[in-house]
Amino acid sequence: MIGNINCAGGAYMLKPLKIGKYTAKYPLIQGGMGVRISGGSLAGHVAKCGGVGLVAAAGIALNSEFFNGRNYLQAEPEAFKAELKKAYEIAPDGIIGVNVMVALADFEQLVAAAIEGGAKVIVCGAGLPLTLPGLTAHAPDVALVPIVSSVRAAQLIVRKWDKGFHRLPDAIVVEDPDTAGGHLGEKMEIIGNGDYDQYGTIRGIKEYLQAEFPQASIPVIAAGGIWDRQDLLHALEQGADGVQMASRFVPTVECDAADEFKQAYLNCRMEDIGLIMSPAGLPGRAILNNSDNIRQYDLDHHTTCRMGCLKKCSYKETGERFCIVTALDRAQRGEVESGLIFCGTNAWKADHIGTVQEIFDELFAGEIPAEAQKAA
Ligand SMILES: Cc1cc2nc3c(=O)[nH]c(=O)nc-3n(C[C@H](O)[C@H](O)[C@H](O)COP(=O)(O)O)c2cc1C
Repeated sequence: MIGNINCAGGAYMLKPLKIGKYTAKYPLIQGGMGVRISGGSLAGHVAKCGGVGLVAAAGIALNSEFFNGRNYLQAEPEAFKAELKKAYEIAPDGIIGVNVMVALADFEQLVAAAIEGGAKVIVCGAGLPLTLPGLTAHAPDVALVPIVSSVRAAQLIVRKWDKGFHRLPDAIVVEDPDTAGGHLGEKMEIIGNGDYDQYGTIRGIKEYLQAEFPQASIPVIAAGGIWDRQDLLHALEQGADGVQMASRFVPTVECDAADEFKQAYLNCRMEDIGLIMSPAGLPGRAILNNSDNIRQYDLDHHTTCRMGCLKKCSYKETGERFCIVTALDRAQRGEVESGLIFCGTNAWKADHIGTVQEIFDELFAGEIPAEAQKAA
């Protein structure tokens, strides 16, 4: 065995992460963060450090040179490709991918733009990406990665992809609704009641894949609540093949958000983080101190839906709740009084703004042995 590392619970192997045709030096995906929290800069620097960097598609046109105030859906693909280009300028040989939410109105166009922009990996959550292999059939090297929160959702996707497209996922991300940031794949009333078992779900998916597709080697990745090296080692020890981390990358120099957004992470307390019902019909985890102002902003400015960013949206349909894409955009630009600041349960742990490299140094201490790299 190579690269064995001992930790409290026993021995396991810390090894590179193979997703389809690509092998990341470290078993880490940086979670996609919209709106423009993980753009080309963050994704590029994560890829440069040896992880998988993801540009998030949601709202990418906003605050870009391609958006003229009226052409949101038209501007999205170009803005998305421009961010991918930026990421590749930082890490020309890096593993750079995208996160495209299934719930987005322009999901299909953004998947096409991701391929045109050279994305190596497409990660999709906020809905079941049942049609994804069909949309990407002309680009078979692009790795396809669904995000799920249950064994059942994983089974549904795998069966559909296998039957309909003779394609299996190249990895599966399991997102824990009790800890992850952003939109969550579970009902509000169930989140945090203690029933959800993140690593039980991961092991259940691995058992299913092993039983049905014993020849396939599909990594299962833990997302949600992973902040430091101890969390990473715990996830691997519990059976995950890698981790997806998002909130930890917000307080970095390279993160694409305004300083005020990063500062909000540094200032927040554990009790400030909670759940908000998104107009997308899903709960989301965020810093809640300003939640009244988010709705008030739309009332004060007499706004109506101008972007049409989501397939289904209570704000678009009935004016209920608030415009999510502009609330996320305000936060990203530093208007944190009225913006929506998504974060995971660990965001309160942020105590300084560091660099992406420092996070990799702390998490991995440089320790993927050369033999493990070669063997991957
Ligand atoms: C600011 C922020 C924005 C996010 N935006 C997205 C998104 O656009 N699409 C998505 O699938 N997940 C999104 N997420 C979820 C993350 O990709 C990730 O899976 C999750 O936050 C992992 O938990 P952690 O933040 O505790 O590491 C977002 C999370 C945060 C904190």
